[in-house]
Amino acid sequence: MIEKINSLLHEVESFAPTTAAEVEEFRIKILGKKGALNALMEEFKQVPAEQKRELGQKINALKQAAQERINTLKSSLGSGAGVKVAAVEDMTRPGSAAADGTRHPISIVKNQIVDIFSRLGYTVAEGPEIEDDWHVFSALNFPLSHPARDMQDTFFVEKQSNEPNVKDLLLRTHTSSIQVRAMDHQKPPIRIVCPGRVFRNEAISYRAHCIFHQVEGLYIDEGVSFADMKQSILYFAKEMFGESATIRMRPSYFPFTEPSAEVDVSCNLCGGKGCNVCKGTGWLEIMGCGMVDPNVLEASGIDSKKYSGFAFGMGVERIAMLKYGVKDLRLYFENDVRFLHQFDSAL
Ligand code: DAH
Repeated sequence: MIEKINSLLHEVESFAPTTAAEVEEFRIKILGKKGALNALMEEFKQVPAEQKRELGQKINALKQAAQERINTLKSSLGSGAGVKVAAVEDMTRPGSAAADGTRHPISIVKNQIVDIFSRLGYTVAEGPEIEDDWHVFSALNFPLSHPARDMQDTFFVEKQSNEPNVKDLLLRTHTSSIQVRAMDHQKPPIRIVCPGRVFRNEAISYRAHCIFHQVEGLYIDEGVSFADMKQSILYFAKEMFGESATIRMRPSYFPFTEPSAEVDVSCNLCGGKGCNVCKGTGWLEIMGCGMVDPNVLEASGIDSKKYSGFAFGMGVERIAMLKYGVKDLRLYFENDVRFLHQFDSAL
């Protein structure tokens, strides 16, 4: 009898059906009324008393093993009698989500800036990151002694050739260089925004980096006034920071604009009352701007008697910091996904 039990146990353990119907057939064969287990129980009645304990335990273990095996096979093969299922997988389980990426906050904010100005009729213009002195400084009316031309502030590219007509190359320090390229190739009216990466020889800290992003704007036509500039920038501020945003302009100086101004937006955190982000002033600096200096128009062959225009330039990192409360500029460059995923909903 013990051999019978062992061979049934082996049969149960090695049973490998491919359909639920086979499992059911097997269940009847082993556990059914006229099945092998009941036949064993009949035989058990005749077993001498001293063997009952050992054989009884064996039969119970067989019964339990058969039941467990049948239950697991049933749940993996389902109840679809006759249907062949190759893998022992639950095909109804939801698939695992693919880990998709997200846009970088700098791209998100750059796109927002471009979108806002495109609603005012601006188109996008781009230029090279490795530039020459003319497009970054000279054509923009920088005097020869201007500190920006110094090695301390600008990354110069070493000349590969000693030929005198090979230009001095440098990494652009601002996207204003794209203005010059646009004015060289287009006739007014010109209405462009120029996003791009810029480079300055700065020590890296929470508020400065040697690589950052700017968006430059330029509008040149007949009769463009300071009031046009103010209205355009106010529209931008409201679209970017909310309807309640206001702006103020402070007189400033840039070689390529006259008059020049620094633009502040009302602090969107304290609503202008004063907090530690706006250092109690209620205002946050967002960009520089001004009326294009006639020297700049003339340098690119545009008649400054007929045309006038305005220009503005802003840092994308700064706008993103103000809009999303980012306190350390270095976070933009570390690419820690825990930081980047916080911008998923801003897309
Ligand atoms: N190029 C300036 C900078 O990098 C920003 C700027 C200021 C651009 C005034 C302009 C402007 O077009 O009018 O700091």
